[in-house]
Amino acid sequence: MKNILITGGAGFIGSHVVRRFVNQYPNYHVFNLDALTYAGNLENIKDIENKPNYTFVKGDILDEAFLEELFAKYQFEGVLHLAAESHVDRSITDPLAFVKTNVIGTMNLLNVAKKQWKDDFVGKRFYHISTDEVYGSLGATGLFTETTAYDPNSPYSASKAASDHFVRAYGETYGLPYVITNCSNNYGPNHFPEKLIPLFIHNIIEKKPLPVYGDGKYTRDWLFVEDHAVAIDLVFHEGKNHETYNIGGFNEWQNIDLVKLLCQQMDAKLGRAVGESEKLISYVKDRPGHDLRYAIDASKINKELGWKPSVTFEQGLEKTIDWYLSNEEWLKNVTSGDYQKYYKEQYK
Ligand code: NAD
Ligand code: TYD
Repeated sequence: MKNILITGGAGFIGSHVVRRFVNQYPNYHVFNLDALTYAGNLENIKDIENKPNYTFVKGDILDEAFLEELFAKYQFEGVLHLAAESHVDRSITDPLAFVKTNVIGTMNLLNVAKKQWKDDFVGKRFYHISTDEVYGSLGATGLFTETTAYDPNSPYSASKAASDHFVRAYGETYGLPYVITNCSNNYGPNHFPEKLIPLFIHNIIEKKPLPVYGDGKYTRDWLFVEDHAVAIDLVFHEGKNHETYNIGGFNEWQNIDLVKLLCQQMDAKLGRAVGESEKLISYVKDRPGHDLRYAIDASKINKELGWKPSVTFEQGLEKTIDWYLSNEEWLKNVTSGDYQKYYKEQYK
């Protein structure tokens, strides 16, 4: 039995990765380390909580002594690091929280992995999950490749870029066996309703305004979260050490077009009149430093590891809407309390 550490496994993407690893690999014991911030929720992985090859550990990656003890006790052979502060808008109001978790937290994990694995890196792997936002913003054309220069614009992307650099530096300097992936925008079940798609699904259900930033012409490349989890599984097992892989959906949408498609699908699901939800669209003040366009060239992972997305955007969006409509209790729970305060501040 191999002990594997997954950080941030109570969050959006992490929960899908934990589920996949627990179900696919009975020969792994999966330790899910999560601080359960506002973005972490054990409900996300309720279905696997009693599996014999799964253990949840509540803890903060900022606590290095605790991490050292954990590593010494369980002798992890692999780390999949997803724990992070992940929302751009929050990074604009509280950048330091992002430096702490995303940079210092990653450093702590690197340090304990290096100390524990010492000079015997054989069979070990440190997998750092990152974002395409480190590359900055594209103009109307072009794609991010693995060799695109880093050019982050938000405190979130700057903190992720810094953490990527440290992971690479530990590889070059100390020989730590690492892989990094930079993925485009994810969507799907269990997504906290502060990001575009889950926020707008929530607001459409509640018939609340849909706050589109600026002119709505910003473009993102969307990937269904379960396809990201499959890519992560492949890279963890078959990716080459000291390599970076871009992961994307081959699926670019301008925000306003995406919102209109979402409104149409929601109207159909909710039995509302055609065009009813589009009336909720409300153009609001733009996000400062808003990146115009992200788009990923995912040909490396496609050619080298044979990965490609399994669902179209329309299919993925429908699955996502269905999940939110049949999990209204989850939505109610996560949008009570602190969420209301955040919402008032962000959209005042
Ligand atoms: P999320 O915000 O939904 O989840 C983050 C998880 O990390 C939460 O469960 C939270 O409790 C935990 N966490 C936060 N701070 C912690 C700390 N100090 N110690 C321990 N746990 C802590 O994020 P997500 O959207 O699932 O993103 C996961 C990873 O994937 C992040 O590293 C993010 O940068 C990256 N990523 C996200 C996207 C996306 O579209 N969401 C795209 C590409 C890459
Ligand atoms: P988001 O889901 O926050 O992801 P990211 O900023 O990491 O790409 O935002 C996706 C796009 O949607 C981005 O261009 C900002 C825009 N957006 C809105 O127009 N309104 C909103 O309320 C939010 C949260 C995002």
